[in-house]
Amino acid sequence: MHVLELTNVAANYGAIQALRDIHLFVDEGEIVTLIGSNGAGKSTTLKSINGQVKVKAGSITYRGNDITNLPAHQTSLMGIAQVPEGRRIFPKLSVKENLLIGAFSVKDKNTVEDRMERIFGYFPKLKERLEQKGGTMSGGEQQMLAMGRALMMNPQLLMLDEPSMGLAPIIVEQIFEIIKELNKEGVTILLVEQNAFQSLQIAHRGYVIQTGEIVLEGRGPDLIRNEQVQEAYLA
Ligand SMILES: Nc1ncnc2c1ncn2[C@@H]1O[C@H](COP(=O)(O)OP(=O)(O)OP(=O)(O)O)[C@@H](O)[C@H]1O
Ligand SMILES: [Mg+2]
Repeated sequence: MHVLELTNVAANYGAIQALRDIHLFVDEGEIVTLIGSNGAGKSTTLKSINGQVKVKAGSITYRGNDITNLPAHQTSLMGIAQVPEGRRIFPKLSVKENLLIGAFSVKDKNTVEDRMERIFGYFPKLKERLEQKGGTMSGGEQQMLAMGRALMMNPQLLMLDEPSMGLAPIIVEQIFEIIKELNKEGVTILLVEQNAFQSLQIAHRGYVIQTGEIVLEGRGPDLIRNEQVQEAYLA
């Protein structure tokens, strides 16, 4: 059984058909990347999974359970977490408060503390900056905070929307290393990226989306060598 499966998914914004006939799956332990250029439908795909965009046709399942059009607060309890495009941390709240919001449904204090410690293992800087306001963190730090917040739910499936956006190459490298590490520790990953080269390098498999449709799919290394991909995304 797939961890996540989209079958024939369609979605639109009014008259604009943003997704058509999307087929995509993610298996246990995989890093799967969805790549495509601006406006291709990458974020809309993630939003259709977490209930932010209404699925008009087709279905989405998580470990065999139908989650089509379920809101994120429900799917997060099932084990799905998302790091949204643009991080969306709470700028006026401290680092610590941002992390605590990620664990909103966890009642046990010790569990919350254990999870925070685990997150500090990945992102030591967050521990040093616990009282700093989220909005005053640098772009890279905010990305780490957004990832930390998502990890507070101890997700089994982590979806990331363009974590590399606007970051210096060395920070991107660090973020991708952490994604790989999380995956090695058992978190299944769906990674949306415009940075096709780097995401295909760490992905087991990838899909290419173009104007709302999946036009190519394959193993990460095969897609890197694919001529179409090279011309469109790796030039
Ligand atoms: N709220 C909205 N209302 C109307 N159209 C929208 C809305 N959000 C997205 N769209 C349109 O849907 C299409 C897909 O957008 P989407 O944000 O999914 O692209 P993307 O692949 O994530 O692009 P980017 O790499 O720029 O983030 C685009 O044509 C976009 O203009
Ligand atoms: Mg997007």
